Formats: sequence, structure tokens, C-alpha cells
Amino acid sequence: MTTASPGAARSPGVTFQQLLDADTHPVPDVLRLQSPKFLGDDDIPKERYTSYEWHRQEVERLWKRVWQFACREDDIARPGDYVIYELAEMAFLIMRQPDGSIKAFPNACLHRGRRLKDYDGHCSEIRCAFHGFAWTLDGRLQDIPARWDFPHVNDDSFHLPEIKVDTWAGFVMINPDPNAGSLAEFLGPEIAQFDGWDLANRFTEAHVARIVPANWKLAQEAFCEAYHVSGTHPQVMAYLGDTNSQVDVWDNISRVITPGGTPSPLYGDDPPNQEDMMRAMLDVRVDQDLPVRIPEGQTMRAVAAEMSRNRWRPRAGERVDAMSDAEMMDSIDYTIFPNFHPWGAFNRIVYRFRPNGDDHRSAVMEVLFLSPYPEGSEKPRPAPVHWLEPHEAFSDAPELGMLGKVFDQDLFNMPNMQRGLEASYKPGVTLGNYQESKVRWLHVKLGEWVNQGGTN
Ligand SMILES: [Fe+2]
Repeated sequence: MTTASPGAARSPGVTFQQLLDADTHPVPDVLRLQSPKFLGDDDIPKERYTSYEWHRQEVERLWKRVWQFACREDDIARPGDYVIYELAEMAFLIMRQPDGSIKAFPNACLHRGRRLKDYDGHCSEIRCAFHGFAWTLDGRLQDIPARWDFPHVNDDSFHLPEIKVDTWAGFVMINPDPNAGSLAEFLGPEIAQFDGWDLANRFTEAHVARIVPANWKLAQEAFCEAYHVSGTHPQVMAYLGDTNSQVDVWDNISRVITPGGTPSPLYGDDPPNQEDMMRAMLDVRVDQDLPVRIPEGQTMRAVAAEMSRNRWRPRAGERVDAMSDAEMMDSIDYTIFPNFHPWGAFNRIVYRFRPNGDDHRSAVMEVLFLSPYPEGSEKPRPAPVHWLEPHEAFSDAPELGMLGKVFDQDLFNMPNMQRGLEASYKPGVTLGNYQESKVRWLHVKLGEWVNQGGTN
């Protein structure tokens, strides 16, 4: 099959933009944006997933230089609250300051190098557990036990080194490179696309983490396209427009919007009816009555969107009535390079993927749910990180709800991706031109950082 220009072909069926035309509520401009990009169709070398040497290049040229999501501001609400953020050999203390600002320091004592903190927590000073060297919360040298023995240490040179920190929408971002440009420059003007969703005023209702047995990019890329839905999650095809996803690519930001309440085009001429779609979404057996009726002339998408508004109204208030069906129903899956995935609207999902220590064959996968809460009420405290054990599945985290089962289907692929690629005689992986163009974009960016030095 050939097309006039590569990357221009699209799935048959209703497009996301056509669904917006039929929305029962005003559609925000942000969903009307379209930015498809064809970035080539060469295979991606499999070494990017299988080689320790490639991983080391990523650590040196990408991770040590790029802006990255470290924690939520709410995780360090009070002065002296801190979290440890680690990636490969890097480890940082993200510390809330007495004046409310945030500083980050390498998690290492300037005396003999022991890490300063072993766990997330709260402190009134930063005191090393080995010999007791201590610093103030803002990094000034405060105490050296038996100071008479250190006439050669002066306070200024023993200030804890400061790592670049900035915030966006309640996320604390750090950059290990002292020469890095600003976060605002890195995010670019496209970050304003999130403004209407106000992610800062959300609380972390769930935070689940698990070590997954695959390279961090294999784990991440399992969540960067909807093309795998028919193979991996066939149970949602009846009400998910998988291959009709809209893919948009900008500079350091991209997105895949997968419409809900519309059947997969892969059904061809025999799509499920509106009732079957609702049955599939609500997981109602064929021998049971549907608890909702789809009035004549209405779509399952519009009815389900209204159900979603009603579900959120007690917590999100009137805001839900200003939201389009698309914002209530669709997966608006944004990615900020290289590994940060804050979704738009009320999907609530934020993913983060990173190498597990210095191991290129395993990764830390995290899922956060950022939920709205009633206006005027106190913001609930963030959920602590729920670390799943290696024998536990995502469905063992009840706070993930129905999504736990879906993540388990994705998880099932991950070690098989790693093992399959290592065994493969084929030197690279092949990508679809449009549906997998977010994966392509990730690799084009990665290549710029690792092979050409990149820009930060
Ligand atoms: Fe999936």
C-alpha cells in the first residue's frame, strides 16, 4: 500500500475532530490544535533498549542534563519536609525551605560522602548519620563535631551544592546540570495548553510504584500509543477509538488523544451499537440489564460524559458543567520529554518512568492520580507512595480501580518485550508512521541528546 506522502494516511472511521464537532458542550481551543509530524520511518536500533553502554550514554548525556519531574510540591508541604529523588547514580534531596521556597542538594555528605538522608521525611537540620556534620535546611554549614580538627574547612566551601529547581503546575522539576537553561524555556509555549485544567489545584489521591522488568523506554512506550489496544486490551475496543487517536508533536511536548465512547474502527462494517458500547464500558454482563438508558437520538458518548460529570460534581463542583464531552471521556495523554506524562482534563493520570538504578533492563514505573477536591475545602494530604512487591500486580493496588487490570495487561508485555528484543535477529524496531509517531518523537529527541549533545 502506498500513499502520496508518508505519515499522511489515517484510520477510517470518525476522527477526533469530528467527535468534537458533535460535542454537547463547548470544546476548548486546546483540543482543536492539530500538529501531526512525520519524523521518518527508519527502524529504531534495538541497542537503545538492550545495551548497557547506550544506557550509560543516556545517563551522562540525557539524565544528567535534562529537566525532570522530581516530586509534587505537596509532598514537601512544610519547611524541613524533603524527598529523595534518584536516577542511576544520581541522588538529590528536594528540601522545603523556611521561606517556602524549594532547594535541591546532592544527597551526599561533604565530609566522607555518606548519603545525608536514607528515606523521605522531615528534619530541622540536615545532619549526616556517620560523624554528625550538619547543615541548615538551606544548605549552610551548621556544625562540625570537634571542629578543632578541621581548621582547613571553611564554611563557604562547605555549603551544600545547589541543584537547579523550578516548579510547574505543582510539580517540582530539577535539572542536575548547573549550566542548564530555564525550565520555562525547556517547556516552551505549548505548556500553556494545560492552563484550563489547573493541575496545581489537585491532590495526589494515589501514587503507585513498581519495578518493571524492562528498559524504562519499553515501559514508557507501552503508554505512548493506542495501537496496542486491540492486541493487549481487546475488552475496551467496543468503546475506544484506538486507531482514531489524534497524535500531536511539538518540541519537548507531545500528546496522543484517544477518544472514548466511540467504537474501534477495527470493527469495520459491523461496529457495536450504542448499548453494547455502554455495556462494555460499565463491564455489564450480557445477561444483565444495563443500569442506564441511552435515550433515542443520543449517543453513548454524550450519556457517558454526563455520567462522568455527575460523578465528579461533588468533588469538582460547577467546573464539570463547563467541560466538553471530550474532556470527560477521552484519554488526553501528554508527554513532556523525556519521561513525564501528565494527562489533560480529569483523566487524573500522571506517569513517570526512569531507569531502576543503573540497570538498563529494569525500570521504575509510577502512576499518580491527581484528583480535584471541593473548592474552599482544605487540600487533602498526598497519598504516600505505594510500592508494589515484585510478585504483586497493579490490580493489587485497589486505589487504581479498574485501571489496575489494564496496567497488568501492559505489564505482561514488558519482560516479553525485553527478552524478545534481546533474542531478535532484526537490528531494530519498526514503527507506524502516525499512530506510533509519539514513540518516534521520543527517539528523535533522545538521539539529539545522546548523539548530538542536545539542547537544554
Ligand atoms: Fe495499554
